[in-house]
Amino acid sequence: MRKIVLIKGDGIGPEVCDAAVRVIAATGVEIEWIDALLGIPAIKEYGTPLPDGTLDKVRETGIALKGPTSTPVGEGHASVNVALRKTLDLYANLRPVRGFDGIKSRFEGVDLVIVRENTEDLYSGLEHEVVPGVVESLKIITEKASTRIARFAFDYAASHGRKKITAIHKANIMKLSDGLFLKSVRAVAKKYPDLAYDEKIVDNASMQMVLNPSQFDVMLNENLYGDILSDLAAGLVGGLGLLPGANIGEDCAVFEAAHGSAPDIAGKDIANPTAVIMSGVMMLRHLGEIEAGDRIEGALRAFYRGPERTGDLGGKLGCSEFTKRIVSLVENG
Ligand code: NAI
Repeated sequence: MRKIVLIKGDGIGPEVCDAAVRVIAATGVEIEWIDALLGIPAIKEYGTPLPDGTLDKVRETGIALKGPTSTPVGEGHASVNVALRKTLDLYANLRPVRGFDGIKSRFEGVDLVIVRENTEDLYSGLEHEVVPGVVESLKIITEKASTRIARFAFDYAASHGRKKITAIHKANIMKLSDGLFLKSVRAVAKKYPDLAYDEKIVDNASMQMVLNPSQFDVMLNENLYGDILSDLAAGLVGGLGLLPGANIGEDCAVFEAAHGSAPDIAGKDIANPTAVIMSGVMMLRHLGEIEAGDRIEGALRAFYRGPERTGDLGGKLGCSEFTKRIVSLVENG
């Protein structure tokens, strides 16, 4: 039996994680889920948002499925998501963006992958007040991390039949930091002559994504641009309820949706669990459970060819009813 850490998080986290656990159970893959706390529930229980016990559990098992955790805006504790990724060196954030046939969205056939560096950039959390009324946030970019994420993106592309990598930057303005990122990526690109490589300035890339997303294949980003473009990309295919993700390091991997804790709909049984379920699919494939992952994705794709929808997609189905439908499709698929 495989041990996997389950961090349900807060807000809609527990609802959508329970849904993912039920759908994964329907495949018959035997998993011992090890509950662990992070963020606000961890503060309530242990007085700290990032307990050592949670980190130890993920280190021991090497794998976790995670729900979203809230971060106070403009005050309070620093993001535990950022802290978790940095502490466990989960340097690569992978977010495949692929629409479902049957979901009405502006574009047909979007199929791109966002790769995002997960450990540095403006997310270093290095901020200070210089004098009252003036603050500084430090953007850290290193050759080492830029080279590492570029290798990840090119290796991923080569092993997943992808054809082109587009590096996203603002090196016309941030000549040193984004300049170093680009220089590092270009050096890696030279080693993959079979893959096409180009570059786009982030503002133009944003416009190009909403004009013609099909021109993109793998988008390689620093931390901040990758975070923003992920949500933009989710909007192209029907919204945040659909976009899965993985945080991958050398020793551990933590699978989680791109969306947050959605406090506006939490506790109402109306969240769409597709993104977390698809994160579970990525996790199963990462573990070599290819057939189980394919069965769940097949069930979701079959479901979306039908008429029923959750609230975010204009329907009336609640999270638990949606989950029942998917469980049944997985069991009978
Ligand atoms: P959010 O992603 O939680 O919500 C944005 C909008 O999308 C809301 O209208 C929400 O209802 C909707 N939405 C999100 N997921 C949905 C789902 N599964 N089904 C249906 N609708 C869904 O972003 P927001 O409001 O900016 O952040 C809320 C909190 O989440 C903040 O405290 C933020 O720090 C945290 N957050 C945590 C993340 C994580 O744990 N990885 C990632 C992003 C945000």
